[in-house]
Amino acid sequence: MDQSLIFDLELINRYDKAGPRYTSYPTALELHSEFSESDYRQQIELSNRNGGPLSLYLHIPFCDTVCFFCACNKIITKNRQHAEPYLNHLIGEIQLQAELFDQNRPVNQLHWGGGTPTFLNASQMQRLMQATRDYFQLYSNDQGEYSIEVDPRETDSQTIAQLRELGFNRISLGVQDFNPEVQKAVNRLQSKSQTFAVLDSARAQGFRSINVDLIYGLPLQTVDSFAETLDQLIEKSPDRFSIFNYAHLPDKVKTQRQINAEQLPLPAVKLAMLQMIGQRLNAAGYVYIGMDHFAKPNDELAIAQREGKLYRNFQGYSTHSDCDLIGLGMTSIGRIADSYLQNTKDISVYAQRISTKQLAIAKGLLLTEDDRCRRAVITQLICHFYVEFLPIETEFSIIFADYFANELAQLIMMQQDGLLVLSNDKIQVLSAGRLLIRNICMVFDRYLVKKNQQFSKVI
Ligand SMILES: C[S@@+](CC[C@H](N)C(=O)[O-])C[C@H]1O[C@@H](n2cnc3c(N)ncnc32)[C@H](O)[C@@H]1O
Ligand code: SF4
Repeated sequence: MDQSLIFDLELINRYDKAGPRYTSYPTALELHSEFSESDYRQQIELSNRNGGPLSLYLHIPFCDTVCFFCACNKIITKNRQHAEPYLNHLIGEIQLQAELFDQNRPVNQLHWGGGTPTFLNASQMQRLMQATRDYFQLYSNDQGEYSIEVDPRETDSQTIAQLRELGFNRISLGVQDFNPEVQKAVNRLQSKSQTFAVLDSARAQGFRSINVDLIYGLPLQTVDSFAETLDQLIEKSPDRFSIFNYAHLPDKVKTQRQINAEQLPLPAVKLAMLQMIGQRLNAAGYVYIGMDHFAKPNDELAIAQREGKLYRNFQGYSTHSDCDLIGLGMTSIGRIADSYLQNTKDISVYAQRISTKQLAIAKGLLLTEDDRCRRAVITQLICHFYVEFLPIETEFSIIFADYFANELAQLIMMQQDGLLVLSNDKIQVLSAGRLLIRNICMVFDRYLVKKNQQFSKVI
């Protein structure tokens, strides 16, 4: 596959409108409160009939200090006592949910996200993993894809060793930017030495895939300052980089109001940053996976993409397409059979529901056949930059050219602009279209028309 990226400012300006990141389709905005517990139980029955491995996502919401840019679902507290009751409820939910699923289904994928999972202390992490092992079929031979998000400010080499011992084999480090002025502007002071110490420990402990999160578009960043951060990290040779575009939505994310908008880099500077990122990572041997993600060619994401087996879920790109995902913890999102569902965002409601042995679902969505068909097209495009019509036609009993006649007509303009090639049997995205992949996916999104203003821009 052609891995190159083309940075055409005129094209990007023309197409760069707000759009979803398609970690699901329909997006989480479509979830509604009419979705009931009985809907969920029906979907679990279907899921158990289909069988197959499971994926678990556990949400640990706490952070010690706030990073002003952060759009994650988190609770800021210096009080470590808050973790204990939450942990008890999380373990309660694990038990409640596990009882609904067939016991023989192995957990191929496990992810602890946050917030900051390592806000938990060593014995709390041990208890959480043990409870998960008690109620679900976790592998003990390192065969599963078990990953954790780690804030290097909240971790040391002892914790990394413990995480490996608990069964984690993939790790993601939040870094964002090393420049001291940028760090001050976003209230995240994090030294290179503490970051590298954690990265070195993870490698020494045999973590199979080490990812680094960076953000471009933060206040006071320049192309040169961000290049410096990137070069220092490239030297350390992590397996993957997730380089997110900072989404400044102060109306929606309160803490972002503490960021001085005048200090944000202009769109042209952000584009130059993106170009620099693409060039440097390419020169260092990383391939562009898509949507902010880069990986070494021998990383499992790059391999899955070459083999046509890449998938996208709420944690980003993934190699496990076939797993139903159980979300555990407040705000967590699951995907079971033909549904998506999300737990309550209110920690006290979560506690009350679980302590009275009820599930904590706040909203959900049953997918229609049309949703499933569009999801298949969008997932294929965003993961592999092409979609062949025949597999979609076979799976959904449609004639692609008829069913998507309107959408294909809309793509003609993108073809004329060199973003993609339309043929009788497939859509192939070209280099110039790779950075604009979500704009291409948006053509297939039936829900979008009314929602544009709620998403961040692509670049
Ligand atoms: C849950 S945090 C990672 C774990 C840990 N809390 C930490 O910060 O190291 C997930 C990642 O989301 C990204 N992120 C958060 N808010 C963002 C925003 N507004 N725009 C772009 N990326 C963002 C950051 O790169 C962050 O590392
Ligand atoms: S970026 Fe990570 S540490 Fe910072 S507030 Fe968000 S979740 Fe917490």
